[in-house]
Amino acid sequence: MQAIKRRDFLHGALATVGAIGLRDPIWALANAPNAVGALPLLLGADYYPDQTPESLWEEDARMMADFGITNVRIAEFAWGLMEPSEGKFDFGWLRRSVEILHKHNIAVILGTPSAAPPPWLTAKYPDVVEVNAHGEPLHPGGRRFTCPTNKTYRKLSLAIATEMARTFAETPGVIGWQIDNEFTLSDSPRCYCNFCRAGFQEWARQKYGSLEKLNRAWGTAFWSQTYTDFAQIPVPLPSGGDPNPGLALDYNRYQSYANVSFLDEQWTMLRKVCPQHFVTTNNVGLIDYINERDLYAKLDFVAFDNYPGFFKMLMEQQANSEAGSWDAILTMIAMSHDLGRSLKDGKPFVIMEEQSGKAGQRTFSPQPEKGQLRLWTYQAVAHGAMGVNYFRWDTATSGAEEYWHGILQHDRSPSPGFDEMRQTLKELKALGRDVLESQYVADAAVIFDYDSSWAVPIQPGHFRLSYLPQVTAWYGTLSPSHTGIDVIVPGADLSPYKIVVAPLPYVVSQAQADRIRTFVKNGGTFVAGFRLGAKNEFSQIVRTPLPGLLRDVMGVTVEDYVPIYSGKPGVTFSGALAGPDGTCGIWADILQPSSAEVLATYTNFSHAGKAAITRNSFGKGKAVYVGADLDPTSLARLLRSLAASAGVQTPLEVPPGVEMTVRQAGGKRWMFLMNNKPDAQTVKLAKPGTDLLTGRARSESIELSGYGVQVLQLG
Ligand code: GLA
Ligand code: ZN
Repeated sequence: MQAIKRRDFLHGALATVGAIGLRDPIWALANAPNAVGALPLLLGADYYPDQTPESLWEEDARMMADFGITNVRIAEFAWGLMEPSEGKFDFGWLRRSVEILHKHNIAVILGTPSAAPPPWLTAKYPDVVEVNAHGEPLHPGGRRFTCPTNKTYRKLSLAIATEMARTFAETPGVIGWQIDNEFTLSDSPRCYCNFCRAGFQEWARQKYGSLEKLNRAWGTAFWSQTYTDFAQIPVPLPSGGDPNPGLALDYNRYQSYANVSFLDEQWTMLRKVCPQHFVTTNNVGLIDYINERDLYAKLDFVAFDNYPGFFKMLMEQQANSEAGSWDAILTMIAMSHDLGRSLKDGKPFVIMEEQSGKAGQRTFSPQPEKGQLRLWTYQAVAHGAMGVNYFRWDTATSGAEEYWHGILQHDRSPSPGFDEMRQTLKELKALGRDVLESQYVADAAVIFDYDSSWAVPIQPGHFRLSYLPQVTAWYGTLSPSHTGIDVIVPGADLSPYKIVVAPLPYVVSQAQADRIRTFVKNGGTFVAGFRLGAKNEFSQIVRTPLPGLLRDVMGVTVEDYVPIYSGKPGVTFSGALAGPDGTCGIWADILQPSSAEVLATYTNFSHAGKAAITRNSFGKGKAVYVGADLDPTSLARLLRSLAASAGVQTPLEVPPGVEMTVRQAGGKRWMFLMNNKPDAQTVKLAKPGTDLLTGRARSESIELSGYGVQVLQLG
């Protein structure tokens, strides 16, 4: 019997539950905290009663209820108020705030406050601060400046979280928890203190079991670094020469683990003390400091933060104007959403912080144009979000984020986007749980590999080579085909996909190689970028001709690998890919086909005539090696044609600047159409549908106003 796929299982489960009329929210299904009663759709805001005079709380709650807010996230930065001195807890203010919110039928997500400790704590325990990559201790005064390993800080963080949990476990209105705040976002994402050093040594002992195995895995004979005691192992601080790549990669893994286990302590406690509440944490998706698959593994759903306008300003600040185009920005955002959904195998996620106005700290982005706040909210839902909380209800009048504008302005008057956001929440409620918790349709996947993302900066080979831009370029060239793309991390099941692409797959473990081999053998199309499998999982160079573990699958040998600092070799396509010539950017793997066919060769290059792109038939599938750092146009033509020949179909051709996604559940399909451009666009429909926002039937075509959105129920 054909093995049932996870997505089909979830579909099936939903349909069954739907059919018998019992309808818990989807996040209650998989991890099943014993939910009490139906919980609201998560359509709300981030609220700061800790920063607001109590005299305004009643008015806030009344205005928020009128605005259509179903829930608020509060208290994630209120440690000092909840524990004014060590062991002295004061939850009176928070209880009163939750009561007022509950009275207005607004549910509460409580945040545990370990992202910003109060001054009394750092004064009494100064060594909880992080030590940065230069060996300098960070200082209190900002946030996210503490060491993830430090036992004292863990104990104190768990103590306040436990007190909160015990206090609010049965409190009406409290529905869930956000642990800490944005583990992945810090000016200094790695700690190099002595506690981390000892933690790393113990982690390495657990992982390798013996010094003999560790020394062999890292190849420590080089530069006489053989360890004769685990206590000799350093952390990669400045040392007159580059660190051992094996040690440096493992240190990234350790720091990721240290943060995940920090979260785990609070999760374990919350599961025990508040079994009926959901638990999550919020992050900015595409930042790779922590393996987010590990971070969200036990949590009920993924929660990401989304600030397109702020993000655009950051890109422009890097004076790289091209990267600042809305299309480029919204493609990155779409990719982040797709990662958020894929981290838990297609499970709908939540945007815990959505931009609501001008955004920034020292510098800030302008007020989004009319329609953009609604558009960005729908983009998240179109990519699989089941809930959106706007950041933030009011705008802070003190602190580092006075210019991060909220739904209410500094003078508490409605912000320019007030009506637009209220209308958007109203519409999302009308769409309802069926649509918001439906499945996202994706036949293609892009691999986002933390190990390669960590190993590339240690030894990039070319000073301009970095991992995320490569992944974004590949995702960005595939996404306009609107076929639906999952952004998966190694370890994810490949069988649901027709085509899987892996940009810059620098580190390939045996397990990954085996999964890819099986995927291709069973009929999948695997497309790999340059530097495939150059490193094994210990970040040693493989001792066999490249691409090492996947030589048989790819049907080629890498004759040479060339970082390109001057000149731009050409790439001429042939056979199935015949078409306009392309160019090769900063890297060229020179391919020697064994069983593979040549799809393109290099020109005006010392390796002119040699294979640049090959395709191998392996089992029932295809394996394509893209040895050249292709220009975006050629890369797009290549990946889209490979996707088409792998059987991936574009549900609908849409004009440039229009984004289209499909979600489905219980045999129903919903198409989201979003116009990322300020001018109106017309979309020719392939099938008739019903416009869910107006109820009107649609057949021929639809007009999308500037930044306009339509949701069509197909069929
Ligand atoms: C992040 C944080 C919030 C706040 C907002 C706005 O995403 O989680 O605490 O800082 O950005 O800056
Ligand atoms: Zn540390």
